[in-house]
Amino acid sequence: MNAHLMSPGEVAARSGMAVSALHFYEREGLISSTRTPGNQRRYRRDVLRRLGFIRVSQRVGIPLGEIREALATLPESRTPTKQDWTRLSRGWRSHLDARIEQLERLRDDLDGCIGCGCLSLRSCTLNNPGDRLAEQGPGPVRLEV
Ligand code: FES
Repeated sequence: MNAHLMSPGEVAARSGMAVSALHFYEREGLISSTRTPGNQRRYRRDVLRRLGFIRVSQRVGIPLGEIREALATLPESRTPTKQDWTRLSRGWRSHLDARIEQLERLRDDLDGCIGCGCLSLRSCTLNNPGDRLAEQGPGPVRLEV
């Protein structure tokens, strides 16, 4: 057997991730494996760095689709290097800034709801973001479910 290949159990032990998570990431196209003649999965050792990259990215709230796209920008889907991580994490800073800004807006809107409970389609900012009913003009409104 190739000494550079690892079984799912070994990868799980080394990465701290469940074997089911490895299968999931593989189905999602974030990692890949080869098969033994007995049809068992084998992973290259550098899968550990990819998994680290995935875990850190998820911790900062990057959606799986964006992680996949980021990994796909690497030539030949190679393992992310320190330089790659630096470049990608810089790009994600703006993503995080936008999320923080959005959450701050939500928090401020929530201030008006605390202790209210009306969930009004007319006056509750959270239940009527962007005041979409205002576009329909004054008068009776049809309740949407
Ligand atoms: S619940 Fe009343 S304003 Fe949001």
